Amino acid sequence: MNEKKVLLTIFGATGDLAQRKLYPSLFRLYRKGVLADHFAVIGTARRPWSDEKYHQVITETIKDLEPTAAEEKEFSSHFYYQSHDVTDTSHYDTLKELSNKLDKKYQLEENRLFYLAMSPNFFGTIVSHLKSQKMLEVDGFHRVIIEKPFGSDYASAYKLNEEINQVFEEDDIYRIDHYLGKEMIQNLSAIRFANNIFESIWNNRYIDNVQINIAEDLGVEERGGYYDKSGALKDMVQNHILQILSLLAMEPPVAFSEKEIRAEKIKALEAVRIYSENEVRENFVRGQYTAGNIEDKNFEGYHSEANVASDSTTETFVAGKLLVDNFRWSGVPFYIRTGKRLTEKGSRINIIFKQVPFNLFKNDINAACDNGSLPPNILTIYIQPTEGFSLSLNGKEIGQGFTTVPIKLEQRNSSEIIENTPEAYEKLLLDALNGDGTNFTHWDEVAQSWRIVDVIRNTWDKEDASPLPYSAGTMGPKEAFELLEKSGSTWIWQPDDWYKDRGLL
Ligand code: BG6
Repeated sequence: MNEKKVLLTIFGATGDLAQRKLYPSLFRLYRKGVLADHFAVIGTARRPWSDEKYHQVITETIKDLEPTAAEEKEFSSHFYYQSHDVTDTSHYDTLKELSNKLDKKYQLEENRLFYLAMSPNFFGTIVSHLKSQKMLEVDGFHRVIIEKPFGSDYASAYKLNEEINQVFEEDDIYRIDHYLGKEMIQNLSAIRFANNIFESIWNNRYIDNVQINIAEDLGVEERGGYYDKSGALKDMVQNHILQILSLLAMEPPVAFSEKEIRAEKIKALEAVRIYSENEVRENFVRGQYTAGNIEDKNFEGYHSEANVASDSTTETFVAGKLLVDNFRWSGVPFYIRTGKRLTEKGSRINIIFKQVPFNLFKNDINAACDNGSLPPNILTIYIQPTEGFSLSLNGKEIGQGFTTVPIKLEQRNSSEIIENTPEAYEKLLLDALNGDGTNFTHWDEVAQSWRIVDVIRNTWDKEDASPLPYSAGTMGPKEAFELLEKSGSTWIWQPDDWYKDRGLL
């Protein structure tokens, strides 16, 4: 791969995201030669760390990738730490001096990439100081990567976007949604647009319903303070789930390019029905976990988590039905479900096809569903922890007589391949270095997603009712199951026992 010349400045360099995701991803890019002699990283945060301390942290965070001693030393020597108060303009002058120095030292051609990995309250302040202290007057590119959350509702997102737009052009703004860096999310376009058997039936004539599940067994861990103000709707639905939905629902782009894909995703999001309050009540369920048991381990309820109010009404679970009002999707429910402390970690998409119009085999009681029809064909896309897809069909059981049996065609990547799959952040960093914004969210997408989600949040905020309780280790409150039952459907997602039994999960 071609070597990239860049100075990366990370705001929030001591934080969890930088340590867990960014440094290991940068190291992977270094190993592949994308970053070699001509790169430098300035880490900034409040803490008064020295370069030596910073190097120790970098070394620690890449340990799992088993670097040689030489790699470790050479890689971390490109990292510089600068203690920084984001509100103090004089600190930007120091940063500018260091940037210019590193630019010369490593011959970076004045390419600057800024990564905002800290509290969103400061995003506006940081970018305005980058401009006022003339840090962007460079001959190379200057781009900014912004971590989620991008606002906490449409109004705050709009305001933030205005602030950033004063400084950066839309094409230089890379809003992260790390789901877009995941292998199987990128694979969605291949599944749809490289296979005529799917794309030709990808519509309301053949598809009964679509289900998007992002289940997590983890609780809120150390992020109680953030999560309690956010909740599952804003944490997962406004971004990841609506992005997945747009990729599933969009029309084929005229070219596989950033501009064309974005245009189609935006159109798909614009077709998602913005509900009335009554429709929200009818189509959305929110829950909150109580104490329970996952794999023989007991977990406390949400109210006992650190930094969570003991009477918190924040939802840790959302299930809902969304409708896409256009020619292709009219009448097809998109069911979505996500939550913390569910049965197990498993992000999956199920496309449930309509059954054949008439069951020739209806006397075959083995194959028939309760209503006497055959089980539907289902395309399942496994996003994580396993990756791959499967297609459920009906076939004849071997032997005398005629009994139909469900058959599953399955392609799942082995754990070895999954280990070598680039981490989402590695892909996204490389895209930003290449100036490719396809896998980042455009402002129009962010804006429309907030419009869809705001009415749901506002409806809940007006109610006295608390989220419905569900025990840790279950798949949410019973109302989330009833949501589908009232339309004659059921959730397809099941725990991945086969993989679990073999110790592969
Ligand atoms: C983040 C959310 O965006 O996604 C977290 O803030 C959540 O609450 C995480 O745990 C899930 O990501 P992944 O890649 O583990 O599915």
